[in-house]
Amino acid sequence: MGPYRNSAPAIRALVREAEVHRDVYVNPEIFELEFEHLFPNSWIYVGHASQLSKPGDFITANVGRQPVLASRHSDGSIHVFYNRCPHKGVKIASEACGNTGKFFRCPYHAWSFKTDGSLLAIPLKKGYEGTGLSEMQASEGLPKIRNVVVYRDFIFARLNDSGVSFEDYFGESLSTIDNMVDRSPQGELAIQAAPIRYMHTCNWKMLVENQTDTCHPMVAHESSAGTAVKVWKREQGASTEAPMAVQLYAPFMSPYEFYEQSGIRIWPNGHGHTGVSNSIHSNYSDVDGYLDQMIAAYGEARAHEILAQVRHNTVYFPNVMVKGAVQILRNFIPVAVDKTLVESWVFRLVGAPDKLYERALMYNRFINAPTSIVGHDDLEMYERAQEGLRSDGNRWVNLRRLFEPGEESDVTAVINGTSERQMRNQFHAWAKFMTADMEMSAEAAE
Ligand SMILES: [Fe+2]
Repeated sequence: MGPYRNSAPAIRALVREAEVHRDVYVNPEIFELEFEHLFPNSWIYVGHASQLSKPGDFITANVGRQPVLASRHSDGSIHVFYNRCPHKGVKIASEACGNTGKFFRCPYHAWSFKTDGSLLAIPLKKGYEGTGLSEMQASEGLPKIRNVVVYRDFIFARLNDSGVSFEDYFGESLSTIDNMVDRSPQGELAIQAAPIRYMHTCNWKMLVENQTDTCHPMVAHESSAGTAVKVWKREQGASTEAPMAVQLYAPFMSPYEFYEQSGIRIWPNGHGHTGVSNSIHSNYSDVDGYLDQMIAAYGEARAHEILAQVRHNTVYFPNVMVKGAVQILRNFIPVAVDKTLVESWVFRLVGAPDKLYERALMYNRFINAPTSIVGHDDLEMYERAQEGLRSDGNRWVNLRRLFEPGEESDVTAVINGTSERQMRNQFHAWAKFMTADMEMSAEAAE
């Protein structure tokens, strides 16, 4: 046992007002404790209801490190379970998604379960008569996760029975999901393809921090996005409108002043977003017919209000980022202390022109894919950081940019877009949710 288990003060000491200790990225005990405390205390994204469009549809996912299974029941309700048979613990579903028909059937001994998780049948059931099975958890069927909220089709779960409610946890940050959904003239999003999966050899929090780091694109992405801009300048000739690819790449080369004025908004519990007044997504070409569809659906004023919100990256603490203006969700799934699986999902705006879906898919391929030229730049930095943090010369990571002494935590604020305050906000939330239930159990013991 290391120094951190059961020690809220030791964990809290890793997060100073504008510095974090390297152990948050490199210490295996801290990584284990994140699955015991941080993830179970937080609301974690499971999937999207459009992946469960018909009764019997299911998806599998991880909540923290817990394998879970979500299903659509015959009455239309959505249920989330721990993905293990109550008999011997065998995973009920090993596929990423599918349709199980009217029931799940364990492939080992054929115990079967309705799509709401209740026990349907056990072969040779007589053998359990008088054994007391009916008194045991195993007879209840698939172990259910009780705290599940489906918010505008986004499925979130909290593993711990008690904790912060969904509404209090996310608060006003849900406005980014609202805006993404409202961008469909039918108010509906659909996942229609598998995500792009990209394994990163770094701690998962480096990726989350990067989502609101606006001082790196013009530096780290100069070799990729900068080259795209140079090539376009050379080749554009008389054309005034850049092709879609150049429109996606070029804003990464925006100067510091652009990010400074576009702003960052922070919310309580570690959530926050870049691109308050405008963003790198603001100047894409209009898509024919889309504005007319939006006006027909929402009226002139509301349609313009929805489309005027062009937020860049919204972090839903702890490990999801949503891009409302380009309909992408990235899930940073921790695998090991220095290994993270990144899943980047694209949503179609139901009823909107295909061109918008094409743009979101292209953005995902160009920026988030293993074949992207931009994503590599970031990964190289994370790998170097993961290695460099082994150095004993300095054990602290600096987050002091635009820090103001006396800065409050767990507040809503709009600030200069090059501030590192959202990173400070995340680590404040990290320390809070890492220790929340430790504190509670200490109080209960008193
Ligand atoms: Fe980047």
